[in-house]
Amino acid sequence: MVKTGYRRWITVGAVVVSLLVALYIVTGCTQEAGVGSVENKSLAKAGAAGTKELTKDERMAWWRDARFGMFIHWGLYAVPAGTYQGERVKGIGEWIMNNAKIPVEEYEKFAGKFNPVGFNADEWVRLAKNAGMKYIVITSKHHDGFCLWDSKVTSWDIMDATPFQRDLLMELSKACQKHSVKLCFYHSIMDWHHPDAQAPFYPNYNDTKKSNPNFDRYVETYMKPQLAELLTNYGPIGVLWFDGEWIQDWTEPKGKALYDYVRDLQPTILVNNRVGKGRKGMEGLSKSDEYAGDFGTPEQQVPATGLPGVDWETCMTMNDTWGYKSYDSNWKSTEQLIRTLVDVASKGGNFLLNVGPLPEGLIPEASVQRLKEMGQWMAVNSESIHGTTASPFGRPAWGRCTAKGNKRYLHVFDWPKDGRLEVPLAEGAFDKVYLLADKKQTKLPAIAGEGKVTISLPEKAPDAIDSVVVLVLKQHE
Ligand code: GLC
Repeated sequence: MVKTGYRRWITVGAVVVSLLVALYIVTGCTQEAGVGSVENKSLAKAGAAGTKELTKDERMAWWRDARFGMFIHWGLYAVPAGTYQGERVKGIGEWIMNNAKIPVEEYEKFAGKFNPVGFNADEWVRLAKNAGMKYIVITSKHHDGFCLWDSKVTSWDIMDATPFQRDLLMELSKACQKHSVKLCFYHSIMDWHHPDAQAPFYPNYNDTKKSNPNFDRYVETYMKPQLAELLTNYGPIGVLWFDGEWIQDWTEPKGKALYDYVRDLQPTILVNNRVGKGRKGMEGLSKSDEYAGDFGTPEQQVPATGLPGVDWETCMTMNDTWGYKSYDSNWKSTEQLIRTLVDVASKGGNFLLNVGPLPEGLIPEASVQRLKEMGQWMAVNSESIHGTTASPFGRPAWGRCTAKGNKRYLHVFDWPKDGRLEVPLAEGAFDKVYLLADKKQTKLPAIAGEGKVTISLPEKAPDAIDSVVVLVLKQHE
């Protein structure tokens, strides 16, 4: 099904198209049709009126409020689903091209088998929304270079190379707008399919010691025009979530330049720290002014005491892979996931929880089930997550705490057997205490003294995973 071999990527046509795209942006033209048109007109206007001057706090406001988002890793790697030539391949699913040492021409054959007729953008977005998630970050392009949108710069995309021939990102964009969920794009700087990037490094596409002398051409005539497409045609994008920045050819100055390029296209957008070299291992960062990007991205971990002074987002899988692997059933429990969300929020971070859909377009049943259960908890308790800030009480033995205005949300993981919950509130000036699950807000008996508030709880916990007790302070601290 793939129409061209990878060597024919940089065709005269592609260069012309990319120049046209650049011209398009420079002249401030907007699309006549498509989701992006109206928003981009206002964005362009806002940009001209100085939206770029928005403070970081203003740009970050929706994201800090959201606290919970969905990561979606989806691409051709869902087809082999962790098995190549009858062998189970070690490592995360979306790395199969590298880990099984699959030549580009061989990997391209998966495109002919990618026909996700079960895909329903509306269902995906509703699943996220009902779980209490406020944004979705989907892999526009992962390390294998395959594009989930109709890119004019290449035929290595869902429109030209697969039997599916639908612009997946456009469908998601429309559904996200309909349900008021922010659409965000993951985008890999590393590209194993492009001859000017890492394709020639085969059989080790991820060889960080190798450099491609044509890498800048890839950046200028391929990656940037593609980003321009993504930021022009799909409406306002919440976050551009870069990855694959560890390659030899990427530098911090290039990261800073790319950050500016992206912000010029959409002034209000947020960009993660992986746009540059600002990441230390899988951890976040300590000083916000040291790197390009707006927030840190701890991966598969929650920093013990958060990352004070910087915005951060923990991304995490539900099992052990980002991209679908048919035999990975090492699922985290709903209890673990809810408590991780709470733990992250109690330390002032966001939680980006991953799903890896099947090649047919369906989200794995185990993920759906967990998201529904998280949604049931959120239906009662989302007030204690959305718009909250880090706990003023550290990490109490019984659970975690989040804060908003004059409310302190006490997330009780371990319901005390003696019915007494102690909160270290020095001044003891509180108004009332009630269970968030209790719509009538019946006051719970509580007394202040000795630098703490002691609350008497009912015998039975309203929720076995996390019951939230609301402590209303007399005045905003
Ligand atoms: C890593 C992996 C990548 C995954 C990402 C998510 O960087 O290379 O496959 O997308 O983590 O944070």
